[in-house]
Amino acid sequence: MKTNIAQHTYLAKEIADPVFLQALPKAELHLHLEGSLEPELMLKLARRNGISLPYSTIDEIKQAYNFHNLQSFLDIYYQCAEALQTQQDFFDLTWAYLLKCHEEGVVHVEPFFDPQTHTERGLEFKTAILGIHQALEQGKKDLGISYGLILCFLRHLPEAAALECLASAKPYLSLLIGVGLDSSEQGNPPDKFTEVFKLARELGLKAVAHAGEEGPAHYIVQALDILKVHRIDHGVRCTQDNSLMERLNSQQTPLTVCPLSNTKLKVYTHMSEHPVLKLLDLGLNVCINSDDPAFFGGYLLANYQALVDDLNLNRGQAAQLAANSINSSFLSSNRKEEILSVLIKVASKN
Ligand code: HPA
Ligand code: ZN
Repeated sequence: MKTNIAQHTYLAKEIADPVFLQALPKAELHLHLEGSLEPELMLKLARRNGISLPYSTIDEIKQAYNFHNLQSFLDIYYQCAEALQTQQDFFDLTWAYLLKCHEEGVVHVEPFFDPQTHTERGLEFKTAILGIHQALEQGKKDLGISYGLILCFLRHLPEAAALECLASAKPYLSLLIGVGLDSSEQGNPPDKFTEVFKLARELGLKAVAHAGEEGPAHYIVQALDILKVHRIDHGVRCTQDNSLMERLNSQQTPLTVCPLSNTKLKVYTHMSEHPVLKLLDLGLNVCINSDDPAFFGGYLLANYQALVDDLNLNRGQAAQLAANSINSSFLSSNRKEEILSVLIKVASKN
């Protein structure tokens, strides 16, 4: 069900200001926990675990974060993940992210984690999921942030490895809401993972997938038709195909768009070229997310602010993006209604 928030928004055409953006209750649906590992915590964990990273100072790390495409980022991202070794490390990582959410008015999260990144280097499957789950539970209790955790398969690896990963996840199914698909997109189309997504759906898990970030529009079609996903992560390349845009609009398929990620990874050379507000104004169900905030220059509010700075995001648009994030989540309709009624109050206030 689409909630048209813009029409309830006081001074809808006014540029959205930081106080308004913070006050809007928001959900974050496209966030890789490993991508929220800040340089400070990375160095602390590496020291704590006796791991040597290729960087020894914050400055060195920040200088390395100069990406020219998705792969140049992933190479560094997987290297940095080596700092994560123990259940406590995954707790600390997740807790730091949740504190940030609390500051920024994020009331619900559906974060991703990549178990294969960790099992490939010898960690037990349970290490990551238990640490993450413990922090998410604490966040729910102490910060009031609800959650659903999504396990992502690495698409540069064979489907057999994803099947093994899903088998390892079986004892922990109650800790998961769904499965996703991430890593190197080009050359690794969604249909490579037909079987594992079918099995995951049969186990009662929801499905999402990265598609149309760097890869072509027809990967989005495959993700919808073959993997039967509820949401497309990124999806911005739908602009290459008018009939796909019409389909996404008429079906109100959620697209979890990540503006700062797209400019950092050179999907667009400048934020002023980003199509997200055009898609929003056409009626597509887009929402804003931070993807890998420790690597791309900011959390959720920084992504909204970038749209203010370069695309004149107004209050009506901001409120609609926030409402889309809530409606596109896997929350129950009751909890959605509860949050949306707060959102309408915030949006309609002076
Ligand atoms: N795209 C694909 N895989 C990823 C990303 C991304 O933006 N971030 C972490 N893994
Ligand atoms: Zn992503």
